[in-house]
Amino acid sequence: MLQTNLCNIRLKNPTILASGILGVTRESVERIGKNGAGAVTLKSLCHEERPGNRNPTMFGYDSVFLNAVGLPGQGIDSAMKDFGRLDNLSVPVIGSIYGYNVNQFGEVAAKMASLKPAMIEVDISCPHLDYGKPYHADPELTAKVTSIVKKNSGKIPVSIKLSPNVHDIKEIAHAAEKAGADAITAINTATGMVIDIDARRPVLANKTGGVSGPALKPIAVRCVYEIYETVKIPIIGTGGVTYGKDAIEMVMAGATGIGIGTGIFYRGIGVFKKVCDEMEQWMKKNKVKSLDEIRGCAHE
Ligand SMILES: Cc1cc2nc3c(=O)[nH]c(=O)nc-3n(C[C@H](O)[C@H](O)[C@H](O)COP(=O)(O)O)c2cc1C
Repeated sequence: MLQTNLCNIRLKNPTILASGILGVTRESVERIGKNGAGAVTLKSLCHEERPGNRNPTMFGYDSVFLNAVGLPGQGIDSAMKDFGRLDNLSVPVIGSIYGYNVNQFGEVAAKMASLKPAMIEVDISCPHLDYGKPYHADPELTAKVTSIVKKNSGKIPVSIKLSPNVHDIKEIAHAAEKAGADAITAINTATGMVIDIDARRPVLANKTGGVSGPALKPIAVRCVYEIYETVKIPIIGTGGVTYGKDAIEMVMAGATGIGIGTGIFYRGIGVFKKVCDEMEQWMKKNKVKSLDEIRGCAHE
């Protein structure tokens, strides 16, 4: 019922662990797969090891989760040693990469491709700058990064991960598709701030952070909806999916894959299976046999 074809990758269901949340070792990848995820995205990797930002880097309340972890993690070289290869795990793995400049995106992509992931996701929504402008907000830079990553990834499909922090996400998606992207992942977190009124200071040491979780969902659904009207390539709809009804909403906006990150914070590691069960219940109740029947139906 939930089987999904994403760029010719066969997923048992459309749920995908979003990047940055638990996908850091072979063991954690297997564990997420066993807990029902259709695919697992690794933490974003660049050419070097990064310590990340000063604490506190995370804060969650009600339906808001705010983080400024600052892309901590091992570099691609050490990940290559740890993972060995990515095509012999029991769940399809999406390797997430980024660079500080266009050439580094290309170099890290080539190394990631040698691990044979099912897909390469390109985090252009990271805080580093090239030529003074963030990649995610500039269609020309988006196209340059997409082209070099495609060139260095061989036959592995490439998804470009977009940011909601832009004036017009459609033009960025269009630039990525034109430059050869096979899919779009939408979205990364939205910039936000929470102030501790007793301390009279922002709660995060970094002051601002990325909003994820349920508060992000309407923004994510709007982005997926707009991108679906602009490009023909599939979309991995990500942002605030916590329940099956959220995933159905994403599919109706036009998503093929469903990214889930912060949902683990609210519902535990079993969130993938719970979301899938809830999707199936809704489908049975509404006599929907396959997700293809409702994909993009909100546009009609
Ligand atoms: C703690 C944390 C770390 C994250 N790290 C990354 C990352 O390394 N690369 C990336 O592309 N996105 C990263 N993200 C963004 C998520 O992959 C996802 O796009 C975003 O959180 C929205 O989905 P969600 O509401 O389901 O969490 C991170 C999010 C969180 C909360």
